[in-house]
Amino acid sequence: MWRRLIIASLLAGIAEFSHATSNSNNTVNDSKLQTWWHDSGVINTESPVQPEAVRQSHLYSVQVTNSVDQTYYDSFVYQTIPRNGQGNILIPDDLTSTTSASDGITIEETIGMTMSWSSFLYSADVWVKVHRLDGFSIVSDSFVIRPTNHNFTTSVTAGDLFIQVPFDEQGSKFSVEFNDNLYEFHDGCSDPTCSYVQDTTAEGPYYVEKFDDSMPLISVEPLDTLLIFASPFEDESLIPDQTSATSLVVSEGRISGLNTTNATTVIFGPGVYYATATDYLNLSATVSWLYFAPGAYVKGAVEYHTSSSLIRATGHGVLSGEQYVYQADPTYGFQNHNVDSSPLRMWKGTIPGGQQTTWIVNGPTVNSPPFNSMDWYGGLPACLVTDYKQVGGFFGQTDGMQAYPGSVFQNIFYHTNDDTIKVYHSDVTISNVIVQKGSTAPIIQFGWASRNISNIRVNDINIIHSRWNSNGSNPGLIGSNNLYDPSTTSTTAGNSSTADTYSTASDIVLSNIRAEGISGPLMRIYALENLSNITISNVWIEEFGSCNGFEDIGISESFMPAMTDASGNNVTVEGFVIENFVVGDEKVTLDTASTTGNLYWNAAFDVTIT
Ligand SMILES: *[C@@H]1O[C@H](CO)[C@@H](O)[C@H](O)[C@H]1NC(C)=O
Ligand SMILES: *[C@@H]1O[C@H](CO)[C@@H](O)[C@H](O)[C@H]1NC(C)=O
Ligand SMILES: *[C@@H]1O[C@H](CO)[C@@H](O)[C@H](O)[C@H]1NC(C)=O
Ligand SMILES: *[C@@H]1O[C@H](CO)[C@@H](O)[C@H](O)[C@H]1NC(C)=O
Ligand SMILES: *[C@@H]1O[C@H](CO)[C@@H](O)[C@H](O)[C@H]1NC(C)=O
Ligand SMILES: *[C@@H]1O[C@H](CO)[C@@H](O)[C@H](O)[C@H]1NC(C)=O
Ligand SMILES: *[C@@H]1O[C@H](CO)[C@@H](O)[C@H](O)[C@H]1NC(C)=O
Ligand SMILES: *[C@@H]1O[C@H](CO)[C@@H](O)[C@H](O)[C@H]1NC(C)=O
Ligand SMILES: *[C@@H]1O[C@H](CO)[C@@H](O)[C@H](O)[C@H]1NC(C)=O
Ligand SMILES: *[C@@H]1O[C@H](CO)[C@@H](O)[C@H](O)[C@H]1NC(C)=O
Ligand SMILES: *[C@@H]1O[C@H](CO)[C@@H](O)[C@H](O)[C@H]1NC(C)=O
Ligand SMILES: *[C@@H]1O[C@H](CO)[C@@H](O)[C@H](O)[C@H]1NC(C)=O
Repeated sequence: MWRRLIIASLLAGIAEFSHATSNSNNTVNDSKLQTWWHDSGVINTESPVQPEAVRQSHLYSVQVTNSVDQTYYDSFVYQTIPRNGQGNILIPDDLTSTTSASDGITIEETIGMTMSWSSFLYSADVWVKVHRLDGFSIVSDSFVIRPTNHNFTTSVTAGDLFIQVPFDEQGSKFSVEFNDNLYEFHDGCSDPTCSYVQDTTAEGPYYVEKFDDSMPLISVEPLDTLLIFASPFEDESLIPDQTSATSLVVSEGRISGLNTTNATTVIFGPGVYYATATDYLNLSATVSWLYFAPGAYVKGAVEYHTSSSLIRATGHGVLSGEQYVYQADPTYGFQNHNVDSSPLRMWKGTIPGGQQTTWIVNGPTVNSPPFNSMDWYGGLPACLVTDYKQVGGFFGQTDGMQAYPGSVFQNIFYHTNDDTIKVYHSDVTISNVIVQKGSTAPIIQFGWASRNISNIRVNDINIIHSRWNSNGSNPGLIGSNNLYDPSTTSTTAGNSSTADTYSTASDIVLSNIRAEGISGPLMRIYALENLSNITISNVWIEEFGSCNGFEDIGISESFMPAMTDASGNNVTVEGFVIENFVVGDEKVTLDTASTTGNLYWNAAFDVTIT
């Protein structure tokens, strides 16, 4: 059913293009549409780009119009690649410091995977024109736009694709995918311990000469992803005054002085900025607002030290972790350090505890996080996050943001390779999230520790791609994974007496979840506390893998087994409702729970399927 891609010929063409492009930069900035360009754009799918350069798509160009005369304006197409062309290295900027220790990337670099994206601001309907730079002539049945429920009107003219994007106050985020550019992820065998194999690069890892029937199909994903992020114009209240005496407008190039500034507001205008692989934006205690203007490209990671009760990160620019090694640790010379606590986060804050703090985030795109994307220490701010994007989440442990108590997340795109929608705290609302998922961890996660959590709403989740390489990689749309032991950085999988029956997770509604393509299971819940009044409503899974051997791997099975505390007291599960769960076009009933739904739970639990 899926057409195989001829990757070798594509790869062969790439290496020659490592030069600055001479594309036009006919951009627009009016009340209806704002696009931007980087003169330092460089096409290079193989190696790190210069600090002052921005990696540009080798395969796509994008133009946008909203005018009656159909004048199309350029919108820069950014690109990110696994490991940022540095390889699996341990020491900053030292491309010889390679390791075979896992960084969460298996075959993605070897097969030449890339992710491109283009962003613009709009206030009215637009047409987006997508052109293929490899000469491929787009025809009407050669593409799909995901999520597929956008229902955009499209047309094809002279080999280019035109997509009508109606104005939407929530913005529009979507993936444009071409049938000739799909990669099939296969596992090497149907044993639960197997992982991906590739048949493109004989000298690369996990090579097999060709896929055969013993190698189950796990997922189908674009080799060269193209994402379009259409955002409403920024609200004036989210744009700082750059003429204010308390604003610091950063100079382009090497970033410095942010740890000593007296400014309250730090502004990155359009342009390219970099902290280097051995520095970051360690903000002085006065700074509470960071602004990334549309067209700003900032290579670095952020840490706040303010005691302000209102902290902001706004603007539609990019914050990119591309210069860092995996798990770069500032307390370890920014070398790779395989621990949880000290490696860089793209967003970190060390703020006073016991104070009500709000962190407002609107607009930015985070690229290539080298580890967990966000953690706060001292206090936990309520996060009001809108129109946020994470791309290039190829490394392992590149999760989504934390939702601390009182948080509201809306209109998000996540490319992640770990826990994605993290609901570890009460009173949170998360809606309209589009997810493209790498190999590890469930999409909605509330486990790893016993918790008292309640009043959680997660709604309108579109999973456009997901893949898990094995039964052990915690597959699932919804997960409460086994107790995590920070001292050994491992889980207690297999130990069912790790729950805390003094704790309760209750009043949780997870609704309107769509998983396109081959999916993992609905849920894997190792209840680490009593569960009460949990509703999973309106879930559509397009298909579980049907290829030979997929079932033997066990990736599609849902579980909710019995758990006890250390003294043998049972966890209770009551009021656990799964309503309107559909696989393909078949609604799952109690009778078909295990067959169609692949659902298993401890018979003592109060579970309703309706
Ligand atoms: C791109 O636009 C900028 C700003 O408008 C201008 O300074 C620059 O010369 C243009 N570059 C090209 C290659 O057209
Ligand atoms: C775009 O237009 C707005 C409003 O006139 C202006 O504030 C902003 O500086 C412009 N941006 C660029 C990059 O020219
Ligand atoms: C797209 O079409 C489907 C099927 O007709 C419909 O259920 C869905 O609501 C539509 N989506 C939008 C955004 O209109
Ligand atoms: C600020 O950061 C720079 C590195 O960018 C460092 O050399 C300097 O010592 C720091 N200053 C303070 C006061 O921490
Ligand atoms: C910050 O303020 C202090 C005290 O007013 C002053 O001494 C210092 O020079 C200022 N530093 C900067 C970088 O402006
Ligand atoms: C970051 O800033 C904080 C507060 O000034 C300082 O304690 C810490 O050492 C800095 N971190 C690094 C890696 O320089
Ligand atoms: C399982 O976890 C419990 C609670 O942490 C612990 O007391 C027990 O020793 C563990 N059992 C095994 C076999 O590790
Ligand atoms: C959890 O369930 C157990 C078994 O029913 C019960 O004894 C315990 O009180 C419950 N805990 C809470 C916090 O309700
Ligand atoms: C949950 O709350 C109960 C009652 O206050 C407490 O005994 C238990 O330790 C709490 N659990 C956690 C994980 O904090
Ligand atoms: C669950 O819902 C029932 C019925 O509304 C309610 O009586 C019960 O208190 C709820 N349980 C929890 C732990 O909130
Ligand atoms: C998958 O893992 C679960 C949890 O460890 C286990 O119960 C199940 O048997 C495994 N399935 C297969 C097919 O190995
Ligand atoms: C705990 O659950 C098990 C089944 O999982 C059951 O056999 C046992 O009787 C339960 N214990 C209590 C005290 O309810």
